Amino acid sequence: MESPMLTTSRRSSSCVGRGMIKNRTMTTTARDITLSMILLKRRSPPVPQIPFRPGPSRKTGWPYPLDKAANLFYQFVLLVQPEDVNQHLRHRLVQAWGNELVYLSLGVQGPGQACNLRDNGFNVIVGQRPGKTYEKAVADGWVPGETLFGIEEACQKGTIIMCLLSDAAVMSVWPTIKPYLTPGKALYFSHGFAITWNDRTGVVPPKDIDVIMVAPKGSGTSLRTMFLEGRGLNSSYAVYQDATGKAFDKTIALGIGIGSGYLFETTFIREATSDLTGERGSLMGAIQGLLLAQYEVLRENGHTPSEAFNETVEELTQSLMPLFAKNGMDWMYANCSTTAQRGALDWMTPFHDAIKPVVQKLYASVKSGNEAQISIDSNSKPDYREKLNAELKALRESEMWQTAVTVRKLRPENN
Ligand SMILES: NC(=O)c1ccc[n+]([C@@H]2O[C@H](COP(=O)([O-])OP(=O)(O)OC[C@H]3O[C@@H](n4cnc5c(N)ncnc54)[C@H](OP(=O)(O)O)[C@@H]3O)[C@@H](O)[C@H]2O)c1
Repeated sequence: MESPMLTTSRRSSSCVGRGMIKNRTMTTTARDITLSMILLKRRSPPVPQIPFRPGPSRKTGWPYPLDKAANLFYQFVLLVQPEDVNQHLRHRLVQAWGNELVYLSLGVQGPGQACNLRDNGFNVIVGQRPGKTYEKAVADGWVPGETLFGIEEACQKGTIIMCLLSDAAVMSVWPTIKPYLTPGKALYFSHGFAITWNDRTGVVPPKDIDVIMVAPKGSGTSLRTMFLEGRGLNSSYAVYQDATGKAFDKTIALGIGIGSGYLFETTFIREATSDLTGERGSLMGAIQGLLLAQYEVLRENGHTPSEAFNETVEELTQSLMPLFAKNGMDWMYANCSTTAQRGALDWMTPFHDAIKPVVQKLYASVKSGNEAQISIDSNSKPDYREKLNAELKALRESEMWQTAVTVRKLRPENN
């Protein structure tokens, strides 16, 4: 997770606060929008805050989340009077995204982005192949022939093709999509995978379209939940190809529309490599490895499953993580017992030294395209789903995660 303050101090990169829309001088000449925003905020008079009020804004009919976006936009632009902001923002967004946006497939990431865009007033249609997910889309309110189509028909109708197929599916569906990528349209991704490793995926877009990305740093479910709570999930953004001169506008408009908390700049290759490293590392792979190693050592030394689980996982997720998220690890270190403090300070370095070579190996494997190839190869096998399910079943049935089921049931709120 990238902190905006770190970003500004470390390099001249950019973060766009929720609702930020392009300020032409800044975006064309400098990418450090966070720094600019901070300076503007310091110089500007207090900005009126619009309280969280889901539903359409009374003034403009524009739903709440863009009210908030517009509020930030106002902080940034300053020239626009608050009452004009929504209209101005809407105008910019409409200019950017044209008539129709197509959303390709409602998997995990898809529903969150599609519903947030729809609730934000965007003109969204969905392209989904027939099957269970199509039926679910109907149940979720997408109307066949009006807002829900097959993939081909949706691509034909749409001006921005939001390609949220699974990474393996993009390769097989690409020949279907490509003929509809006519001049002036945009192709949108939420992951740099297909483009970064297009020597392996075959996804080479025509030169006369925009190719853009907004990559939320979390699941579609979180994106939707946080949006409904009036919060936002951070996303990175990138423009790979700007054929129309409006690719940046489209990207930021979509970044706001899907419910991003703030947007930080990346490139397709940087997003793809950091994302694959993150999910294999501290977000999923490494954390499971670390938790299991500690759980096993405690169990091997006679601790009960309950004790091993509580000391390894439950305390982490229930007590520490919320504080860690709110205040940072430095705060955690400063606000625990002196015994915990001494031990954590002494042991952080041995853990770091043991783990860093593994992360370096992982990064090299990602950078070389090896991890992408493994993913492509395994996802393309006909028995992939069965094998994956067997691996997931083994994880689910492991002692540590079975203990988790019991411990969760014992939480007071579940009784
Ligand atoms: N999941 C996340 O947390 C997350 C976070 C950030 C970014 N992303 C990115 O968002 C994109 C979508 O990820 P996802 O996790 O939402 O993928 P997913 O859940 O696996 O979604 C798959 C979608 O692709 C469709 N699909 C699969 N194979 C197909 C085929 N051969 N032909 C046509 N449609 C096919 C599926 O339809 P059926 O249901 O009919 O199979 C489903 O709608 C990826 O680029 C991913 O990297 C995901």
